[in-house]
Amino acid sequence: MKFFIQTWGCQMNDHDGEKLSGLLMAEGFQAVDSVEQADLVMLNTCSIREKAVHKVYSELGRLREEKQRRPLLVGVTGCLAQQEQAALFKRAPHVDFVLGTMALKQLPRLVAEAQAGRTRVMDTGEYPDNHLFPPAVTRRRDLAKALVTITEGCNHACTYCIVPTTRGAERHRPCGDILAEVHGLVASGYREVELLGQNVNSYSGGCTFAELLERVSEVDGLEWLRFTTSHPMNFTRELARVLVTNSKVAPFLHLPLQSGSDQVLKRMLREYTVADYLERIGFLGEGRARMALSTDFIVGFPGETDQDFEATLRVLDEVAFDGSFSFIYSPRPGTPSLRLKDDLPMAVKSERLMRLQRRQTELTQASNERFVGRQVPVRVETRGPTQHGWWLARSGEWKTVHLMVGPGRELPFGELVQARVTMASPHFLGAVLD
Ligand code: SAH
Ligand code: SF4
Ligand code: F3S
Repeated sequence: MKFFIQTWGCQMNDHDGEKLSGLLMAEGFQAVDSVEQADLVMLNTCSIREKAVHKVYSELGRLREEKQRRPLLVGVTGCLAQQEQAALFKRAPHVDFVLGTMALKQLPRLVAEAQAGRTRVMDTGEYPDNHLFPPAVTRRRDLAKALVTITEGCNHACTYCIVPTTRGAERHRPCGDILAEVHGLVASGYREVELLGQNVNSYSGGCTFAELLERVSEVDGLEWLRFTTSHPMNFTRELARVLVTNSKVAPFLHLPLQSGSDQVLKRMLREYTVADYLERIGFLGEGRARMALSTDFIVGFPGETDQDFEATLRVLDEVAFDGSFSFIYSPRPGTPSLRLKDDLPMAVKSERLMRLQRRQTELTQASNERFVGRQVPVRVETRGPTQHGWWLARSGEWKTVHLMVGPGRELPFGELVQARVTMASPHFLGAVLD
């Protein structure tokens, strides 16, 4: 039996895909690289915005045709599976099984039942030990950096967000388990680890998140430690101190702001004001200058006025984010923001998004230019797509670096090398090996 998993969404979903692969490989299944080669296709889905859901249904349409031509098992996992549950079978009757985000270990059973000819097999239960997944089973795809779940679920209740529904309430992995996994990863050659959670800094598996970072950073042989994602209200002084003083913690912070207007933040139930957010950034002190800071914005939230949006642009400039992800508000089923009046024309929302993104491009260009002439350590990720002698690498600040080494030269995957930055664009740094 050959399988193919297509994954959308965040790092957590990516990592779930690695866990699901491992479960199937432990059963003797073989991983392949395309739908065409596979007997079993799983769509590991995201439902954060309507667009993400469209992609899933359009892929399901393609799979229906494939299934008419030959025997094929089709499974849906991830956040859309958890959200839609049995309704998925109604909209896509050719789906053989649906597996929720909190029932990963049930996959072999579901596949066996579907293979035995049962239809509409489903498990979207909330298994309390889902976050205690055996690391030895996981089959990692990323050679440079290992993803490690520390907490699953979210206890916040942002009014626009589907994640508390699709991922449930917070569950934290014990600190000792996490340390054991990181020790194992380093022993098997990984030099960089990214700790994952919908909200990592509310971690409470026996110590605080700041303490966890310190402990993990003490693992011999580990070079860089990253984490994603943080909520501003759980961003403590202690965490800021670790971030700026611990040399193994990569100098990068992604701290989603969403809006620069207090009225909008209130309707989003983000639990902070703009002043609170700026105070948290202030915790970084002078260390801030040595780091890169990124954020998320939602544009066109119900009731967002011109003044609200201008306030967002002002905060964008004031913080001078090194990068940001911005999205037009997308109404999600069952979320409280559906009850808010949303009468802003889409053209206005799109115009705002474009203005914000244009300004961010300028800020990112300025941020990148500061690197020109500097020597920076970067981790080699992959060969460049054109094979014309450049390689893709990543700096501690999460900058994409194009390393020009000339044709024919091989670089060591996953290793740190010293690069000298020679040029900056808004999307990457150009560098040579020092
Ligand atoms: N746990 C993370 C967010 C995960 S979702 C946090 O709280 O920071 C990633 C981003 O998607 C969010 O930060 C938000 O900017 C965006 N997002 C979430 N729901 C959305 C929606 N309904 N419409 C548009 N963007 C949304
Ligand atoms: Fe969603 Fe808010 Fe939780 Fe982030 S903190 S996952 S935006 S509810
Ligand atoms: Fe998407 Fe679920 Fe992640 S909705 S962003 S895959 S937590």
